[in-house]
This record gives sequence, structure tokens and C-alpha cells, in this order.
Amino acid sequence: MPATLFRSCALSLYRGTRSTAPLSAAKPLLSSLTQQRWSSHSPMGTPTGPPRKKVTVGTIRSMYKKDEPISVMTAHDFPSAAVADAAGMDILLVGDSLAMVSMGMEDTSEVLVEEMLLHCRSVARATKGAFTVGDLPMGSYEISPEQALETAIRFVKEGRIQGIKLEGGKEMAPTISRITSAGIPVLAHIGLTPQRQNALGGFRVQGKTSSGAMSVLEDAFAVQEAGAFAMVLEAVPAEVATLITKKLSVPTIGIGAGNGCSGQVLVQNDMIGNFPPGRFLPKFVKQYGNVWDETLRAITSYKTEVKARQYPGPEHTYPIAQHELEAFEEQLERKTEENESSWF
Ligand code: KIV
Repeated sequence: MPATLFRSCALSLYRGTRSTAPLSAAKPLLSSLTQQRWSSHSPMGTPTGPPRKKVTVGTIRSMYKKDEPISVMTAHDFPSAAVADAAGMDILLVGDSLAMVSMGMEDTSEVLVEEMLLHCRSVARATKGAFTVGDLPMGSYEISPEQALETAIRFVKEGRIQGIKLEGGKEMAPTISRITSAGIPVLAHIGLTPQRQNALGGFRVQGKTSSGAMSVLEDAFAVQEAGAFAMVLEAVPAEVATLITKKLSVPTIGIGAGNGCSGQVLVQNDMIGNFPPGRFLPKFVKQYGNVWDETLRAITSYKTEVKARQYPGPEHTYPIAQHELEAFEEQLERKTEENESSWF
């Protein structure tokens, strides 16, 4: 809330309670309002825990050289970024998967640059240690390297993230080169590229034939040469992904590509189980938690307690001094006896 608005709210609150008192008496109330927060909303704040050293592309390069696996996780808003950052993820990806898992869209083709930027900003505010990457949505980079660079710059300036991801192999090499030469790190994405699901005939595993595997390898070399600092390798047989990873000099981040990649990425909603029962989950997802069940249990308990008038308990209420309460009750009684139809 802007300071002037806050001040006028505080003053009117004060005037509402004691309209005849001098304004100078509002001072103590103002200062106590700035110290105490009575609203139902409060900022999420900085997550507690030991401060983390900021991950950079240099850190990622040195992890790769030491053969240390790189951990990547999607984050779509402030809380999902704060928790993944606190868990020590190396890279947080504001993936366009948010179209489906956070916005309820049918696929990723619908999500707009402005929507991605909104989510990127929320993630950036929460992320203290991880390197942040934003996914360029379909239609925002394929037309020309210039279009892609313009979008990438918006992601850095308005989305406040540190690198971008885009889908595509050989055909995207000039675009990757244009963005990286402007100083924006690019995470490439090859293998299954969900934004092209219509051309691929659905979400299909790539590189299942020797020529298919060769084509993925060519894509990998092309994006590496173009300057990508790493590449997501999605839905490729594990053996093929391992062989490709060994041939490269930049990290591969696997999703559905086995354990031989340089790192792994998962969609957070999938791996924490934050979705309704019965939803289809790809084979490669390991569910490490069940946030849906826990949230459902908590909200159901709240509903039960509200209906039974068990919540809120005395510990959830604000106190009033006994003499103020008694004075209020007396006034109330007097007014009732006077049988006033209009009280104020
Ligand atoms: O959009 C996304 O979340 C992704 C990851 C699954 C790699 O592209």
C-alpha cells in the first residue's frame, strides 16, 4: 500500500473510533500500525535457512566438469520457487508447463508472453540461490532470431530471470546464437518438444530408431555450437541420451531420458503430487509427495470446523480490554432501551 494511502487509512480508522480527539493523538496509533500487521494477507518473506551462494552459468559449468549431477525443477509462482530454492535446486525453470498445471489450459500453445512474465517475476522474487530460467512460449521466438531476442530481453528485463529456454534443434541454431551473443544464457530443449506436439503427432518418445537417434544427436551438436549453456533432452531412450551426453561438451538435463544425463528436471506439481486423483502422469515421473491429499485433508478439516463453529477458537481472536467491553455493552443496552430505530 502506498505510504499516503496507508496514512489516510490509518487516520480514518483513528477518526472513526474517536472523532473528537486531536489529530496529533493519531501518532501512536500510526506507529503501532506500521509495526503490527492485522490484515489477513502478509508477504511470504524470505525463506528461512542458511543463505545460499548464487548459482551462475559458471557454477553449472564447474558442476558439469566435476560430473556433479545438476538438479532442475520447475517453479511457477512465489511459494513453489521459495520451497525449491530452499531445497537447494541448482536451476529453477519457469516452464511453459505452467499453462497446463497452473493455469488449467489444454496444452502449452495457449500461454502468452505476458502471462509467462507474470510468473517469472513471482519466481524471481522468491529465488535467492538457484539460477532462474524462463521458457519462451510458442509464437514468441520462431519467426526470426530478432523476434526471439526481443522476447528474451523482455524475459530478463521484465521477468527478472537470468536465462531463457526455447524448444528446437538445428533450425533454432541461428536464434540461439543471436540470443547468446546478446549476453543472455540459453537452455536449449531437444528430443520431444511439447510446443510442436501437433507436428510430432502427439507427445511421442524421440530417437527410437537409429536415424531418429542420429537426428537428436545432430540437434544436440547444433545447439551446443550455437552457444547453449545446456540442453533439456526430453523423452529419449536412456541409452541414446547417455551416448549423446558423452559426445557433448555442455550438460544435458534429462526428463524421461534416463540416468545418464548430466542433470534431471521434473515438473514440480507432478513430483510433489499436487493434482487431482486420476490425472495421467508420464512414465518417467516419480511422485515424491502427495500435496493434493494433504491440502484436501486440511481444507476439509477447516470446512468441518467452520460448520461446527469450532473455528476460530479463542486463540485466533483479538483481545479487547474488559473496561472497554463493559462500556460498549452499557452503551448498547442504553441504546436498546431508548429503542432507537436509527442508531447513527
Ligand atoms: O515447460 C516445462 O516445464 C519444461 C520442462 C518439463 C523441461 O519444458
